[in-house]
Amino acid sequence: MSVMKIMKPFNVVINFKTGELSPGKRVLRRVSDLKPLFYNQKAAEELIHHDDPLMYEVIYADVPEEGGHLGHCTTILYPGRVGEEFFFTKGHRHEKLETAEIYFCLQGTGKLLMESVEGEFEVLDMFPGSSSYIPPYWSHRTVNVGQEPLIFYCIFPGDAGHDYATIERHGFPQLVVERNGKVQLIPNPYWKKNV
Ligand SMILES: [Fe+2]
Repeated sequence: MSVMKIMKPFNVVINFKTGELSPGKRVLRRVSDLKPLFYNQKAAEELIHHDDPLMYEVIYADVPEEGGHLGHCTTILYPGRVGEEFFFTKGHRHEKLETAEIYFCLQGTGKLLMESVEGEFEVLDMFPGSSSYIPPYWSHRTVNVGQEPLIFYCIFPGDAGHDYATIERHGFPQLVVERNGKVQLIPNPYWKKNV
């Protein structure tokens, strides 16, 4: 018999068009919240001084951050760029590295960047209906490469935890940019192997 506290089952309601998850707890991220992560620091500073645009919102269902539970949330990543670089989420790896996650895309067009603890790099396309499996030991970041909000639903072990600091120090191996009107992945000159 588990010592886990028995909690009542519950519903949240997700609007597939807007990404609203209700009831939920909302976290907002502006360009200023991600400042050290941009390739073009000057472009980031200009945007911050102008109107510091909202890059994304994450709306979490109220679930204990404990083993056995499943955290779940929606993310609404707005279209936009900082210089050539498309808007992206901070990205993280799980504090408990041996935990996986699923990203189910509801709206929009995106790229899911992943880097393993051994420095392998993988990219998956995100589109309505894509369900991406992020295995254990992979850092993950999403990028909106379309004209409309990229909206996806995430499910992860309650005790996974979020390590943002490693990505902040090391970056991802590639950047997603718009060049000559096209989406391109280019090497990140500031990347340091994630070990
Ligand atoms: Fe995650």
